[in-house]
Amino acid sequence: MTMKLFRGARIYTPLATGNRVMSWEKGAILARNGFIEKVGPEEEVLRDLEPAMVEQEVNFGGRCVVPGFVDPHTHMCFSELREQEFALRLSGVSYMEILASGGGILSSVRSLRAASDEKILERTKKNALTALSHGTTTVEIKSGYGLDTASETRMLRLIERAGREIPTTVIPTFMGAHAIPSEFSGDPEGYVDLLVREMIPAVSAECDPPFCDVFCEEGVFTVPQSRRILEAARKHGMKLKIHADEVVDTGGAALAAELGAVSAEHLLAARGENLAKMASEGVIAVLLPATAFSLRKPYADARKMLELGLTVALATDCNPGSSFTQSMPFVFSLAVMNMGMTVEEALAGCTLNAAKAIESDHFCGSLEKNKMADFVVLDGETPAIMAYNSGVSPVLSVYKRGECAAQRLDDWRFCR
Ligand code: NIG
Ligand code: FE
Repeated sequence: MTMKLFRGARIYTPLATGNRVMSWEKGAILARNGFIEKVGPEEEVLRDLEPAMVEQEVNFGGRCVVPGFVDPHTHMCFSELREQEFALRLSGVSYMEILASGGGILSSVRSLRAASDEKILERTKKNALTALSHGTTTVEIKSGYGLDTASETRMLRLIERAGREIPTTVIPTFMGAHAIPSEFSGDPEGYVDLLVREMIPAVSAECDPPFCDVFCEEGVFTVPQSRRILEAARKHGMKLKIHADEVVDTGGAALAAELGAVSAEHLLAARGENLAKMASEGVIAVLLPATAFSLRKPYADARKMLELGLTVALATDCNPGSSFTQSMPFVFSLAVMNMGMTVEEALAGCTLNAAKAIESDHFCGSLEKNKMADFVVLDGETPAIMAYNSGVSPVLSVYKRGECAAQRLDDWRFCR
């Protein structure tokens, strides 16, 4: 039996029941074979514990410990960055104008199709490891830069392979409906036919991804097209997600409620009445403040969503276009500083609610018995340090299944 004891921790964690964040000033975690055996005040965890049973003991010296972050919405599997496009956006050209003129997502499609497996894998792992060093121990990664059957299947295989080659838990999502590929420009219905008749059956037979996501947006997929795609995906056993009302309110949030989607993402422009429909159907709102930041758009109305009783999760949206960040602490700080979320709400958004948005809350998202011993040690006393110490990573070390997976060393050399 391999028990590990982590003590001297100021633990902050949401709990599966009760909708609150629990904290222990002097807390401890006992892990057995990578899973949490006991967590709580140090004296309780230590009670009846045979020292001989503990193979390793780590004292965190009063530092804050939170659950490993769960990033439930990313597009971090790609080949090339789009820095030139970022410069164009800074000069005033809009994200959707760039996509409409054949750039944006379509430029990532061209580079991915031309890239070797090794190149794509290297970029994906680099993104996920950067995320890990910022505390992300579970990440969702979408396909959607292939946009033909062979390339989408290849992406999903590479996403799974990345997950096998790094410590992070990786959850893949099929997003063949990310844009209309140039072969189908002027014939969006032709592409929807391909998705429904060929791509969804093939991808589900070969890769069996748990989720399907659609970019339901003006100039991309309409509400009826999104409905058709998602209904086909559901028939093939996938759970549903929708990029809804990111730029224009097209009613994507209402579609998410109608179809009983697991989550609706973005929601910057969503109407109140449609958010209420989401609340009554239990659809999770996944908010992506780093995207609003990068697109210089008003943030989603998190307070209204919370008042409506929605479960609010947070994610990076990490992608080469609208939001290139791997950092959940950055997302946390935007949520607290610019969306009026409390520290407790933002912490739950980055952990337990994020895990719910990818149906992974049975094994991650909070520090509770029988969940994976995934946690982050912060260079502060409370989770607020992530917003307080702006622009600086607060992460000292990251534990995945009870093992130290990433640790910051004092590797700066100051040259006088
Ligand atoms: O969530 N909106 C669509 N997809 C991504 C952007 C992907 C890209 O620009 O490459 C998003 O913002
Ligand atoms: Fe996205």
